[in-house]
This record gives sequence, C-alpha cells and structure tokens, in this order.
Amino acid sequence: MTAIILFHAKSWVLALGLLVAAGSLAAAEAATDAAADAKSVFERRIKPIFASPKPTSCLECHLAGVDLKNYIKPSSELTFRSLRDQGLVDVNKPEDSRILALIGMGEGGDGAQKPSLIHSEVRKAEYEGFAEWLRACCADPAMIAAAKLPERELAKPPRPDAVIRHARRDRVLASFEDHVWAQRFRCTGCHAADGDQVAKLVAEQGDRDFLWIRPEGAEATMKYIIAQGLVDTKQPERSLLLRKPALEVKHAGGKKLEIGDQGYKELRAWIEEYSRTVTDGYKTVKDLPPAPTTVHAMTDMWLKITDTPGAWGDKLLQVDIHASDGKGGWAQDPIATSDRAVFSNGNLWQHVLTCVAPVGSEQAKGFANAEKPKLPAGKYLVRVYVDLRRKLEKDWRARLGAEDLVGETVIDASWATGYGSMTTMTAGALKKAR
Ligand code: HEC
Ligand code: HEC
Repeated sequence: MTAIILFHAKSWVLALGLLVAAGSLAAAEAATDAAADAKSVFERRIKPIFASPKPTSCLECHLAGVDLKNYIKPSSELTFRSLRDQGLVDVNKPEDSRILALIGMGEGGDGAQKPSLIHSEVRKAEYEGFAEWLRACCADPAMIAAAKLPERELAKPPRPDAVIRHARRDRVLASFEDHVWAQRFRCTGCHAADGDQVAKLVAEQGDRDFLWIRPEGAEATMKYIIAQGLVDTKQPERSLLLRKPALEVKHAGGKKLEIGDQGYKELRAWIEEYSRTVTDGYKTVKDLPPAPTTVHAMTDMWLKITDTPGAWGDKLLQVDIHASDGKGGWAQDPIATSDRAVFSNGNLWQHVLTCVAPVGSEQAKGFANAEKPKLPAGKYLVRVYVDLRRKLEKDWRARLGAEDLVGETVIDASWATGYGSMTTMTAGALKKAR
C-alpha cells in the first residue's frame, strides 16, 4: 500500500516536474518569440522613421526642439530601455504608454491646432508602428527587466520642456497676433484687399502681390509673410517686413516706421523671436524671451501737437497718456501711448494712439473683442518725450525715459475718433516737471 502510494506520489511529482518544465519551456519560447518579434517590428516600422529625412508628425505643432526621432536609438532593446527609463512606457499596459500619447497629440483635439490630413497619415503609421513594437517588447519579461540605462545614454529631445513648449506653432502664432497683427492698422490702408488706397495702388503697380494682410486673418497672414520670404530668419534685421516700412530699401508706401519706434519694436520682436525659434536658437530656459507684461491695441483716436520747436524736426516724439489714479494723482503706467517723427518743416506732430493694458487685465481682454478701443472722455496727464539724442537709431530696443522728457501737461479730452477729429494741443503748453 505504502509502496503504491509512494510510487504514485513519486510519479505525480515527476509528472508535475515535467509539466513545469514544459510550461517554462513554452514561456521561454514565447519570450524568445516576443524578443524576435520586437526586433523585427523595430527594424520594419521604427528604424525607417529614424532613418527617413521626412519630417515626423511632431513637426506639425513643434517648429523646433523635439522630434520623434529624438527618442529612437539604434537598436530595439536600447530604444525600449531608454523610453522605459524616462517613464514613457507603461510595461503593464503598453497601449497606455506616454510615448503613444505624444504621438497621438494631434488627434486629441487639444485645441492647439487642427491636424492636417497629410500629418494624420504619417501620425497613424507612427502610432501603429510604436504600438505594435511596444506590445512585443512588453511581452518579453527579459526586456522589461533589463538593466537601467545610464542617464547620458537616454535618447530624448535636445531641449528642455519649456523650450519645446515655446517653439510650438500655436505659441508662435499667438506671438504674431500680439506683435504684428495688433499693429496691422499701420499698413492695412495699402496692404489689405479692402484698404482705402488699394484700388489706386493696384492700378499703379499692375499687380496685387503686395497684399500681404490676408482677409482670412492672422494665421493666414503669418503663413503668407513667411512663404513670401518677407522674414529673413538668418538676418532678422534685414527682413523686408522691417526694411520696407523703415525705408531702408525703396518702399512705394514711404516711411511708415522709424527704427526703434513702437511699431518697429513690435514687428522686430516677433521677427527676432520667430527666426530664433525656427533656427533652434533657444537652447535653455534662460534664452527664452521674457513673457510680455502689457498688451497693445491701436485705436482711431488721433492726437495732434502744434507749434513743435524746430529742434524737434525729424526726431522721434513719444506721447504717454496717463489716466487719473482715482486718488487725485496720475496712474504710474500710461493707458495709451504713441510715437512718430515730428514733421521736419511743419512744426507739427500727429498720430493715432495705441492703448496699453497689463496682460490678463479686463481692458486687455476687451482689446481682443473690440477692434479698436476707446478712452472715456475726461482729464488726462500727457507726457512728451523727444529722442533728441537719437538713441533709438543706435539701439532699437532702447526706450525713451526721464532724460528725454521735454514736458507734461493736463488736457481735457473727449477723444473723438477719426483723422478729421483730432484731439489737439500745443507744444507751448508743456511744462518741464520738477
Ligand atoms: C497637434 C499638436 C501637437 C502635435 C502633433 C505634437 N504635440 Fe507635443 N505638444 C503639444 C502641446 C499643445 C503641448 C503642450 C502641452 C501642455 O502644455 O500641457 C506639447 C508639449 C510637448 C512636450 C513638452 C512636455 C509637455 O508635456 O508639455 C513634448 C516633449 C512633446 N510635446 C513631444 C511631442 C512629440 C514627440 C510629438 C510627435 C510624436 C508631438 N509632441 C506632437 C502639441 C502637439
Ligand atoms: C501708403 C501705402 C502703404 C502703406 C501705408 C504701407 N505700404 Fe508697404 N508697400 C506699399 C506698396 C505700394 C508696395 C509695393 C511696392 C513696393 O515694394 O514698394 C509695398 C510693399 C511692401 C512690402 C513688400 C511686399 C512684397 O511682397 O514684396 C512690405 C514687406 C511692406 N510694404 C511692408 C509694409 C509695412 C510693414 C507697413 C506698415 C507698417 C506698410 N508696408 C505700409 C504701400 C504701402
């Protein structure tokens, strides 16, 4: 009896042993299959992405700083370990991996941008390739358990996240809206199809190529300006978008900007930023331009200063308008501003005002809604600065300040709008403060 039981027990153990052996053999075979599979999927679907000179889907939204290729190493195993160590793979649920979420960004409708059809095709191929390869990798326990890669061997974008975010196409467009689109009224009369001087100019010029302000809006205008080569990304200061209106080259519209004036500063700021972005010139967070603190909106309120002294002729004159601070004094920051060269022989200065508001303020939000903001009628402090030292010509970034102040006065203005209804004051009313 005992013997039989023993025998049975023995055979059972033996049988179990065989079973376990067979089982682990199957598992080992499956793992080998998965490893081989991962390798072949990598060769077939991932490596070609790496080797191809064609842009990956990331470039639809990221102008610089990141590319899918940045994450790929020469072998399946190294690529997997690199992604895994950066938390971009979910080894238990490969379909939930963050790298797939990055590739899928364009389809999620994050509002940043509508995906284009061409990119959708590319993106689909990338997504399916990575999904298939990750599934095979994660079926291989040896791969999951492989040693950590040293930090310096991780394959990742060359730029930090903040720089990557800054080089997004939607950010570049937002900057264009703030800096260039907001200034368009300086140029619309001649450069937008519905401009009041266009019919005459087309008759003179014989073509419509100069209509770079597009009726579809800011984005179409930005694309057009870039496609027409009006921005020189290698030498931003040589961009026609600046040189034409500053009359550094022949411009049928004449001189519309002085080097360093507010319009010039705004156009130049975007041109510099765009150029540096697309040439991958921002390397670290420190390189990024400071976030703007104020928003500008051009108005239809004109200010005229008569009897300007002869010494001011041809020099840039800046007017800052300060509103009451509600406590009997004047707000420190101007609510509106304007600058333009004084006429050389007319003893006259006149220009439209630009409203200024802190970023995120109620007024700033209003700018986005109303095409041209207005100021309420009332008393305002007017401060006038003249660039007698011509410092802006030497440094377009320079600002006129206390040392350039020629005087100030308080006016009572109704701020009627339109060229025919200018608010007028005389230079003689300006008192030198302090
Ligand atoms: C449809 C637009 C779009 C596409 C396509 C796109 N991204 Fe992004 N990306 C964004 C947006 C928007 C953000 C900012 C997300 C945020 O701030 O929350 C971003 C941010 C990033 C960041 C910075 C980290 C972060 O989470 O902010 C990285 C890295 C990144 N994307 C990588 C990629 C890669 C790699 C691809 C291509 C496989 C890609 N992106 C494709 C829109 C896109
Ligand atoms: C009074 C009319 C007028 C105004 C205002 C005007 N321009 Fe022009 N501009 C023209 C005409 C006409 C041309 C085409 C002939 C030429 O290149 O000089 C032109 C050409 C240009 C070009 C070259 C376009 C191309 O496709 O080659 C640029 C860039 C330009 N202007 C920028 C500006 C900017 C920026 C402003 C506003 C700050 C402005 N212009 C204001 C009349 C004007």
